[in-house]
Amino acid sequence: MSENNLIKPNRVITDKDKDEDDDVVCLGEFFIDDNYELTTFTFGSNVLQLLCLQSASTDFDLTGQLVWPGARLLNEYLSNNAELLQGCSAVELGSGVGITGILCSRYCREVVLTDHNDEVLKILKKNIELHESSEDPNSCAALSAEKLEWGNCDHLNRILENHPQGFDLVLGADICFQQNSVPPLFDTVKQLLCLREKEHCKFILAYVSRSKMMDVMVTKEAIQHGLQIREVDGTRSVIANLEGVIYEITL
Ligand SMILES: C[S@@+](CC[C@H](N)C(=O)[O-])C[C@H]1O[C@@H](n2cnc3c(N)ncnc32)[C@H](O)[C@@H]1O
Repeated sequence: MSENNLIKPNRVITDKDKDEDDDVVCLGEFFIDDNYELTTFTFGSNVLQLLCLQSASTDFDLTGQLVWPGARLLNEYLSNNAELLQGCSAVELGSGVGITGILCSRYCREVVLTDHNDEVLKILKKNIELHESSEDPNSCAALSAEKLEWGNCDHLNRILENHPQGFDLVLGADICFQQNSVPPLFDTVKQLLCLREKEHCKFILAYVSRSKMMDVMVTKEAIQHGLQIREVDGTRSVIANLEGVIYEITL
């Protein structure tokens, strides 16, 4: 579909449009905003450039097209505590455009970035390619993007075929915002943690508080899954007018 034929979502489609524009047939594509902009982010001494939207789409589950406050919080924390990442293998859940996983590639030996949304996976893969083509002298990890819907055992097993030993770290930034996805998120986290001996794998979650109910739910789900959840000292802070915190979650 050419740019000229693309009618923007906030314009009313007239009968004339329908007669003239045979190309407007797929509503899925019709609403997707993919005007990504190359954007520079700085975390401590780490400067990263990647493609993202500057504001959220209103349609479909496209939250992953932009960088969320949780990713800023997690990336600041990881940049300041890079020894946590050194030489590790990591899997990121709900990677969005990939800003956290790509930062980790500067310290880890291997990073698998995941998301469930196919449109988000497209831009995630593009950002990985962009990063690889930049020949970042600091980057040492192998990066890959995989589809992973929380709670979907087939998706997880496909990833584990290539990583039967699991990962040293599970990472998540701003991924607790929909109540019905929190239990399957913790199912997946528990499966990942159980691949390793106790304390040999941890889930680092950057949580941004948007509702009291979700604050309670995150801790409750971790405990119901038999996991330990600990707030990392000194990480509670205000980010984009919201309160954020880093949790370490272990078996
Ligand atoms: C708010 S965005 C955060 C993106 C990124 N981590 C950040 O902080 O910028 C949430 C991400 O989780 C993904 N996501 C939401 N529900 C999911 C699910 N059930 N399984 C896997 N990924 C999911 C979305 O596609 C999106 O990329």
